[in-house]
Amino acid sequence: MRESPVVAAHQSPSRPRTGSRPVRRLVVLVSGSGTNLQALLDAIEAHGPEAYGARIVAVGADRDGIEGLERAKRAGIPTYVCRVRDHATREEWDHALAGATAGYEPDLVVSAGFMKIVGKEFLARFGGRVVNTHPALLPSFPGTHGVRDALAYGAKVTGCTVHFVDDGVDTGPIIAQGVVEVLDEDDADGGAALHERIKEVERELLVDVVGRLSRDGYRIEGRKVRLQHG
Ligand code: GRF
Repeated sequence: MRESPVVAAHQSPSRPRTGSRPVRRLVVLVSGSGTNLQALLDAIEAHGPEAYGARIVAVGADRDGIEGLERAKRAGIPTYVCRVRDHATREEWDHALAGATAGYEPDLVVSAGFMKIVGKEFLARFGGRVVNTHPALLPSFPGTHGVRDALAYGAKVTGCTVHFVDDGVDTGPIIAQGVVEVLDEDDADGGAALHERIKEVERELLVDVVGRLSRDGYRIEGRKVRLQHG
């Protein structure tokens, strides 16, 4: 396991205020169905960007033809696609992704089901400001198959973890976690129903965490994330 290089302390960036409260700029990265993105869109719509503390200024993806991009388009949010195969090297892809993302000047980047590991340049630009959601209780079961691996291991509880991204695979400082019970019948479908139950908890957790980070600010102290209190 790699050591976390995360900055010693990070204050939520301050930006010009609109009205009485700062409204943070979010870029959300997706690779699939985008239900986490939808949960963020719905919360911002329901509360209003000022009360929620943030708005989504763009949605980026690593592939075309996914429901996540359609959700963004339906909400009238700009989208961009950066495909690895359109670039000669992984570094060039990372450079392009970082540049496209930077164009929207995000305060926070939310990796919500984004199935790529971002590279050095992306982290250099956005380190300490990239939030990821993972469908297992880290540090257990990192990687692409967190749900399946927890089930195969025989874990009795699993869940989801919202964490800051560092240069490891799902190794960054943990912000919040939600617990989901594993049921005997979950073996029957290879974890599909379990993943759906995890995603219900995950969406709520992500909406809560992104709102709190945006509204109240935070510090990252080594592995500890300190949320400020309103
Ligand atoms: C989530 O469970 C996320 O943790 C995992 O993929 C799922 C994405 O779901 N990496 P969605 O695209 O937000 O519906």
